[in-house]
Amino acid sequence: MHYTLTRPAARRPLAALALLGALAAGCAPETIDDHPCPPGGTSLTYESFGQEFLQTRCQTCHGAGGSERQGAPSSFDFGSRESARRTRARIFVRAAAGNTTMPPGPDDPPEAERAKLADWLACGAP
Ligand code: HEC
Repeated sequence: MHYTLTRPAARRPLAALALLGALAAGCAPETIDDHPCPPGGTSLTYESFGQEFLQTRCQTCHGAGGSERQGAPSSFDFGSRESARRTRARIFVRAAAGNTTMPPGPDDPPEAERAKLADWLACGAP
């Protein structure tokens, strides 16, 4: 039948568009809104996790003065629970879950630490 030959062909452009959309979504960074706090909450706290993570992984630049900041913007200093909480959506997009644009350079935190960071931030950085 004429109909069975043309109909699948007519669908192909739509399938291609859907694929492009999926690819574009895959390239966009995961945001804090894409990552809900786990159902049981988190046992991670600023004291047990956040402080040390930020101190060792981020504050070498973000908490430093002068040229040691290496260009890290002065509005992003993660040296207190409050500052981490306030900027948690930006921390997420740069460093949590699959987001790896921070820290720049070779000292990449392991995936498990980025996963913990994601949960801690998503639960409000307690
Ligand atoms: C080697 C120095 C260095 C380290 C370590 C570092 N950063 Fe940065 N950070 C920068 C520089 C330079 C910029 C400005 C350029 C840019 O935005 O990429 C920046 C910008 C940012 C910004 C502001 C821009 C935005 O996207 O809103 C955030 C948030 C950020 N970093 C988060 C982090 C986190 C979280 C860590 C630790 C996991 C970290 N950074 C570790 C150098 C550093």
